Parts: sequence; structure tokens; C-alpha cells
Amino acid sequence: MRRALVSIVIVSAITSVLGKWVPYSQLQARDDSALLSCLKSKGLDPVVQGSPNYTSDSAPFNRRLHWKPVAIVYPEDAKGVSAAVKCAAQNHVKVNARCGGHSYAAFALGGEDGHLTVSLDKLRHLSQSGNTSTIGGGNHLGDVALYLWQNGKRAMAHGTCPYVGIGGHAGQGGFGLPSRAWGLLADQVQSLEIVTADGQIRNASLKENADLFWAATGAGASFGIITSFTTVTRPAPNSTAFAYEFKNYTYKEASAGLQAWQAFASNSTNKLDPNVGLQIHVDPNPSAPHGVVFSVSGVYYGADKAKVNSTFAPLLKKLGTPTSILLQEQDWITSVLHLADAKNISQLNTTLASDTHDYFYATSTFISEQRPMVQAASDALFKYFYGPGTNTSIKWFAIFDLYGGGDSAITKVGPDYNAFNARDALYSIQYYGTIPHGTSDRAGIDFIQGIKKAVENDTVPKTQFKEYGERHATLQSLIAPVSEAMGCAVNYIDSEYSAEEAHARYYPTHSANLTALKNKYDLNRTFHFPQDF
Ligand SMILES: Cc1cc2nc3c(=O)[nH]c(=O)nc-3n(C[C@H](O)[C@H](O)[C@H](O)COP(=O)(O)OP(=O)(O)OC[C@H]3O[C@@H](n4cnc5c(N)ncnc54)[C@H](O)[C@@H]3O)c2cc1C
Ligand SMILES: *[C@@H]1O[C@H](CO)[C@@H](O)[C@H](O)[C@H]1NC(C)=O
Ligand SMILES: *[C@@H]1O[C@H](CO)[C@@H](O)[C@H](O)[C@H]1NC(C)=O
Ligand SMILES: *[C@@H]1O[C@H](CO)[C@@H](O)[C@H](O)[C@H]1NC(C)=O
Ligand SMILES: *[C@@H]1O[C@H](CO)[C@@H](O)[C@H](O)[C@H]1NC(C)=O
Ligand SMILES: *[C@@H]1O[C@H](CO)[C@@H](O)[C@H](O)[C@H]1NC(C)=O
Ligand SMILES: *[C@@H]1O[C@H](CO)[C@@H](O)[C@H](O)[C@H]1NC(C)=O
Ligand SMILES: *[C@@H]1O[C@H](CO)[C@@H](O)[C@H](O)[C@H]1NC(C)=O
Ligand SMILES: *[C@@H]1O[C@H](CO)[C@@H](O)[C@H](O)[C@H]1NC(C)=O
Ligand SMILES: *[C@@H]1O[C@H](CO)[C@@H](O)[C@H](O)[C@H]1NC(C)=O
Ligand SMILES: *[C@@H]1O[C@H](CO)[C@@H](O)[C@H](O)[C@H]1NC(C)=O
Ligand SMILES: *[C@@H]1O[C@H](CO)[C@@H](O)[C@H](O)[C@H]1NC(C)=O
Ligand SMILES: *[C@@H]1O[C@H](CO)[C@@H](O)[C@H](O)[C@H]1NC(C)=O
Repeated sequence: MRRALVSIVIVSAITSVLGKWVPYSQLQARDDSALLSCLKSKGLDPVVQGSPNYTSDSAPFNRRLHWKPVAIVYPEDAKGVSAAVKCAAQNHVKVNARCGGHSYAAFALGGEDGHLTVSLDKLRHLSQSGNTSTIGGGNHLGDVALYLWQNGKRAMAHGTCPYVGIGGHAGQGGFGLPSRAWGLLADQVQSLEIVTADGQIRNASLKENADLFWAATGAGASFGIITSFTTVTRPAPNSTAFAYEFKNYTYKEASAGLQAWQAFASNSTNKLDPNVGLQIHVDPNPSAPHGVVFSVSGVYYGADKAKVNSTFAPLLKKLGTPTSILLQEQDWITSVLHLADAKNISQLNTTLASDTHDYFYATSTFISEQRPMVQAASDALFKYFYGPGTNTSIKWFAIFDLYGGGDSAITKVGPDYNAFNARDALYSIQYYGTIPHGTSDRAGIDFIQGIKKAVENDTVPKTQFKEYGERHATLQSLIAPVSEAMGCAVNYIDSEYSAEEAHARYYPTHSANLTALKNKYDLNRTFHFPQDF
């Protein structure tokens, strides 16, 4: 087994070197006129540097990372996407799809200058029939939720921000509060239409191009441009939103709170119903006595207030008396609005108002069910939040999302269901920091990475790291040493990771297969970004 894996990795290492037969440094000096005339000849009307719309069309959600593509095109359909990919491949220009443009690392712009960005803004068709929906690869989550609600009161599990695109979200996993019941958005995809590096428009599902389907539902950005997703939808349930806020906590109480939350969520004798979506939010707040607010919140689908009260009574016994409580019985679309922090259903229609943007750095850690966070790590984490976190110009927040526990649908499908590679996760922690004018990028990144280190240094005792290293000996021996072995959420993509660290963190056991599949479908690395396979 180990021998076989080693040979796959070695072969793929060699072929990936051969595949990159035109070094990027040489491409920098290239003449792009052939690419541009190819695109024009296909009716694609490229927006290029210097043209009036270029600055706005190339503006990323994360303004820290304003990469400059050679051109942006707006194809009308899969054929147009195919034409764009062929023009780029023939001219040795790297290509990236853009859906919502919300990548934390602005990878839809390539993650470096000189790529072709294929915007899917015009691929926004939507249809719904029975328990299946077909969703154009350029749709945003708000429009999808609104459409499904308005066409038969249907629903799917997906993230909270209306402007996030389905392309990046489903392509890389896609967590939402209903995911413990219904799975990640990627898990709800039954088939997809994808344009591969050779320009072919292919269908992929469990029955057809199954290996490509496996790779594109979890590592989508490396494998092609997904022009359409066919997904399972469900009747939209009513629910109760809840939030227990603890404004008076000290760091010690907050650390104990996390320990209690973690034990409650993974209690095997009193399993937490998969219909519970559960989070912790940690936010700085100068009006709190110790500068930070800790809150446990979520949505319980199919439950009323009484059921929320009885479910959370054992946890509240440990957490103490909240400084405030929110309980809101609601229909499905109101739950979507609640999570989006929106009031009016029209705010879900992303064609009616333009997107916001930010200047930030974010990263994440997965805490696995087998290795819950030890007391020393949560103490270190909350010491950081309540210490440096209350004396910084960085506008930070942290969100803990429960993935596992009980009979979570995310866990239940098993480790290799698709390319998403963290089925053992109990929860993710996202650390996010807006970097204000006057504070350097480096200071912002260092502050956020300080949070991550506080968790990771104490959560992986050296002996466990050694076991991990042995289990993944093939990977470990071929890549630069990874300082810590803990997994991370690929949709909170870390702009600072090398490809090697990204693969080990995001795809700890799937990297060898993904590299082999990349060689099969995109030997020349046409779909390239700094962390692709
Ligand atoms: C405000 C906000 C809230 C968020 N909330 C959540 C949340 O609740 N849960 C969660 O899991 N995540 C959440 N995220 C993270 C989000 O899921 C990722 O940023 C996601 O990858 C964004 O997808 P996109 O299409 O908007 O981004 P893009 O930047 O367009 O794309 C992201 C990556 O996917 C590729 N890509 C895009 N479309 C396609 C396609 N059709 N085919 C192939 N590749 C494609 C791009 O090339 C790029 O590499 C949130 C992000 C933000 C900014
Ligand atoms: C520039 O953008 C505007 C607004 O999106 C659009 O209406 C117009 O057609 C674009 N112009 C060109 C030349 O692409
Ligand atoms: C969707 O409907 C089909 C046909 O009615 C059925 O076979 C399938 O089990 C349903 N799937 C789900 C997830 O409900
Ligand atoms: C959003 O608004 C536009 C313009 O009114 C409309 O054409 C579209 O159907 C709306 N989308 C949804 C999902 O309701
Ligand atoms: C993909 O599936 C669709 C719908 O079933 C079909 O119309 C199309 O011809 C298929 N495309 C390919 C390339 O097989
Ligand atoms: C949700 O609640 C509304 C109003 O109480 C009710 O009419 C509707 O049938 C409920 N929907 C479901 C799916 O239970
Ligand atoms: C788990 O649930 C059981 C039964 O409700 C309870 O007795 C026990 O204290 C719980 N354990 C933890 C760690 O919360
Ligand atoms: C649930 O708990 C809240 C807060 O303790 C209380 O105000 C409310 O009456 C309870 N509701 C039900 C239905 O038990
Ligand atoms: C929180 O602290 C305030 C004073 O700072 C106090 O009035 C309030 O009772 C406290 N709340 C709880 C739940 O301890
Ligand atoms: C929601 O927004 C629409 C469009 O802006 C507006 O017409 C409507 O009055 C708003 N509804 C509510 C309840 O505020
Ligand atoms: C707050 O930060 C400033 C600047 O980094 C530092 O000089 C000061 O000592 C810090 N204060 C506390 C209480 O840690
Ligand atoms: C990885 O590829 C090997 C060889 O094709 C295959 O046997 C194995 O099942 C694949 N593993 C996963 C997780 O798909
Ligand atoms: C890689 O690029 C070269 C040079 O353009 C081309 O001849 C070859 O067919 C490409 N290989 C694949 C697998 O696309």
C-alpha cells in the first residue's frame, strides 16, 4: 500500500515538473495579443488592463490581494467557457473561474498576476423540479436560497453570506447551519457539468467521470470550470434561532465555556440531534467588562422554543446565566435572513444591490472528534482573545462551527465520500481580522496567526504529531516539513500557505490521489493558482 502510494507521488512529481513546461517567469514577458485575438474571435470581448471597466471588474472581495489578470471574460454559456479555456491553453496562459469572487486569497484572480479570469456572472440559470435543482455555476447563495424558497419552498444546506458564489463554496465543501442534518453543499451535489483543461464540456457524477466528480466536489478549483450543479433539495423546515450571550466572562470562564460546549456537542450518551446547527462567536467589545463577548448560538431545525430550552438546559447549567438570550421561531427564509444578518427578503437577491468588500486576512483550524481541544489549548486561546485581542487595531472575530457530534451527516458519509478531507472534524475555528488603514498587512497577519498558534501549539502534543507523521509518512517524506499537522477549512483559504502546506492541511489523506487526478485532467496546469495540485 505504502509502496503504491510512493510511486504515484513520485510519478506525479515528475509529470508535474514536465507539465509546467513554460515557466511562469517567461510568461511574464509574453505578448498577449494572440490570446486576446483568440478570445475576440470567439465573441468573448475581453476586459483588459487599461479598459474603463478593468479596475471595477478585477476588484476582489479581499482588497488586500488585488492581482491583475491579463483579461476578464464573461461567457454566456458552457460553450463560451470552453472557448475561453481553449484560447488560454493554446497560448499558455493560466485560467481561473470566478463565481462570487469571495475567495479569501482572491484565487479567482489567479493568486498572482497575468492569468485569464473567466467570470461566470452570466451563468445564473436556476431550475427546480421534484427534489432536484439545477444551478448555473455563476449563482450566488442568496439567489439560490430565494429561488428555491419561491419555487416550492425547497431548501439546501449552505453558508450564510448571500453574495458567496456556489462555484467556490460547493467546489470546496460549503458548510452551513443545516449541514449536520443534510451535509456540506458539495455532498448535496448529484452531478455537475464541468469544462476541463482540454476545453471539453463533461458531465460528472457517480456514474460518469466518477473520479473527476470526486475531485471537483472538494477540490473544484484545481479541476476545471463547473458551469452547472445538479443538487438535491429538501422541503424547507421551520426552525428556532437561539443565542446565549455571555458578556461578563473572564478568559478562564470563556475557556471553561468552550470545554463545556465541546463536551456537550460530542456527548455519546446524550447525542446532539443533527437538526441542531451550533456555533460559538467570540468578538471584542469594549463595553464588556473584560473586553470580549462569548456567545453560543445557532438554529434548531424543526424545533420550537420549548425544545430548544430542554435541549440546551444541560449546557446552560455549565455555562451559567447568560447576559442575554435570543429565541426566535421562524420559517425557513427568515432563518436564512437571520443568519445573513438581513431583514428584508429582497436583500437575498444579489442583482439588486452591489457586494461589499473588505481588507483582511483569515485562517482556520479543524478540531477533530478524536482529538478534542485540551484545557491548556483553550486557556491559551482565550488568554489571547482577552489579552492581545483587547488591545489591537485589528478588527477580529472568531467563529466555531460544529461539524460533527451525534449522527452528523457530515461525518456519517465517511472519510473518502468526496475530495473534502476533514470528515473527522468536530468543529472548525475561523479566525478573521480586518486590517485597518495605518496598520501593516504583516501586523494583521501576525496577529491572526498568533491566535492560530495559541490553539495549535497546545492541541497537538508532540507524541500525537509523531503518530500523525508516521500515518502520513509518504506525504511527510516528499514535502517540506509541516510545522503543525492540524487540518484547516479550505473555504477559509489561507493566502499565506505554500502549496505543500495547503495540501497537507486541507487534504491530509487525499493529496496523492488529487495530484494523480490533476495529472490526468490538467497535466499542463492550465487551472493554476499558488495552491493547486
Ligand atoms: C462574508 C463571507 C461569509 C462566508 N460564510 C461561509 C460559510 O458560512 N460557510 C462556508 O463554508 N464558507 C463561508 N465563506 C467562505 C466561502 O465559502 C469561500 O470563500 C468560497 O470559496 C467563495 O466562493 P466564491 O465563488 O464566492 O469565490 P471565488 O473567489 O469566485 O472562487 C473561489 C475559488 O473557487 C474557484 N471557483 C469559483 N467558481 C468556480 C466554478 N464554477 N468552477 C470551478 N472553480 C470555481 C475560484 O477559481 C477560486 O479558486 C464565507 C466567505 C465570506 C467572504
Ligand atoms: C462596463 O460595465 C458596465 C456596468 O457593468 C456595463 O454596462 C458596460 O457594458 C461595460 N462596458 C464594457 C465596454 O464592457
Ligand atoms: C428524490 O426523488 C427521487 C424520485 O422521486 C427518489 O428516488 C430519491 O430517493 C429522492 N431523493 C431524496 C434525497 O429525497
Ligand atoms: C432578482 O431580481 C431580478 C431583477 O428584479 C429578477 O430578474 C430575478 O428573478 C430575481 N432573482 C430571484 C432569485 O428572485
Ligand atoms: C450531459 O448531460 C446532459 C443532460 O443529461 C446532456 O444533455 C448532455 O448531452 C450531456 N453532455 C455530455 C458531454 O455528455
Ligand atoms: C411553518 O410554520 C408555518 C406557520 O406556523 C406553517 O404554516 C407551516 O406549515 C410550517 N411549515 C413547516 C414545514 O412545518
Ligand atoms: C452526557 O450526557 C449524559 C446524559 O444526559 C450526562 O449524564 C453527562 O453528564 C453528559 N456528559 C457531559 C460531558 O456533558
Ligand atoms: C424558554 O426559555 C426562555 C429563557 O429562559 C423563557 O423565557 C421561555 O419562557 C422558555 N420558553 C419555553 C416555551 O419553554
Ligand atoms: C453582568 O455584569 C453586570 C455589571 O457589569 C451585572 O449588572 C449583571 O448582573 C451581570 N450579569 C450576569 C448574568 O452575571
Ligand atoms: C423590502 O424591500 C423592498 C424593496 O426594497 C421594499 O419594497 C419592501 O417594502 C421591503 N419590505 C419590508 C418589509 O421592509
Ligand atoms: C497595548 O498595545 C500597545 C502597543 O502595542 C503596548 O504598548 C501596550 O503595552 C499594550 N497594553 C497592554 C495593557 O497590554
Ligand atoms: C485513490 O486512488 C487509488 C488508486 O486509483 C484508489 O484505489 C483509491 O480508492 C483512491 N482513494 C480515494 C480516497 O479515492
Ligand atoms: C500541454 O501543452 C502542450 C504545448 O501546448 C501541448 O502540446 C499538449 O498537448 C498539452 N498537453 C495536454 C495534456 O493538454
